Amino acid sequence: MKNIIFVGYMGSGKSTISQKLGKNLKKTVLDLDNIIAEKAGISINAIFETHGESYFRRLETEVLKEAMNRKGVIISCGGGIVLKDENLDIMKENGIIIWLKVSPETTFKRTRMSDDRPLLKNKSVEDIKKMMQAREEYYKKAAHFEMCADKKKIDDVIREIKQFLNLNDTVPKI
Ligand code: S3P
Repeated sequence: MKNIIFVGYMGSGKSTISQKLGKNLKKTVLDLDNIIAEKAGISINAIFETHGESYFRRLETEVLKEAMNRKGVIISCGGGIVLKDENLDIMKENGIIIWLKVSPETTFKRTRMSDDRPLLKNKSVEDIKKMMQAREEYYKKAAHFEMCADKKKIDDVIREIKQFLNLNDTVPKI
C-alpha cells in the first residue's frame, strides 16, 4: 500500500484525521512536525524564533524524505510542505496526497487559543483568508484528492477518505 499523506492549511485537522485513520486501518502514523521538533530538541516555535523559517523548511524536507522511505504509513504534514516543488516530487513518488480543507473562520476558531503556530501569531480571520488563498494553488497542485472537512463529523470524513482509497467503507467504532 502506498503512503497516505495529509496536507492542508494549519488547523485543517490533519493530525486528528491521521490518528483516527491510522487506528482504523491499523497503520503507523507519522506526524512530521512532531518528528522535526524531536530531532531539533526544541519546539516548532523555538525553531522559527532561533533559526528562522528557511532552516525549518530544510528540516521539513529532510524529515519528509525519511518518512517517505517507509511504506504503507500515514503521514501528517505541516501546512507549508506544499510550498516546495522538491517536497511535491518526494510525496508523489510513493504517496496518495489528500488535501483537507476548512474555512478561514474555522481555522481561526481552532487555532486562536494555541500559541504553537509561529505563522499564525496575531493573525485575524482576514489574514488567514489571504494566506489560504495564496496557498490554494500549491495544495491543488499537490493533491490527488481534496475534501472539505469543515463542519463534518470525523467518522464521515474517514468514511469519505476510505471510499476514495477504495477501502471498506464501514468505520468500526474505535
Ligand atoms: C506551517 C504549519 C505548521 C508547522 C509550521 C509551519 C505552515 O504545521 O509546520 O508552523 O507553514 O503552514 P500545522 O499545519 O500542523 O499547523
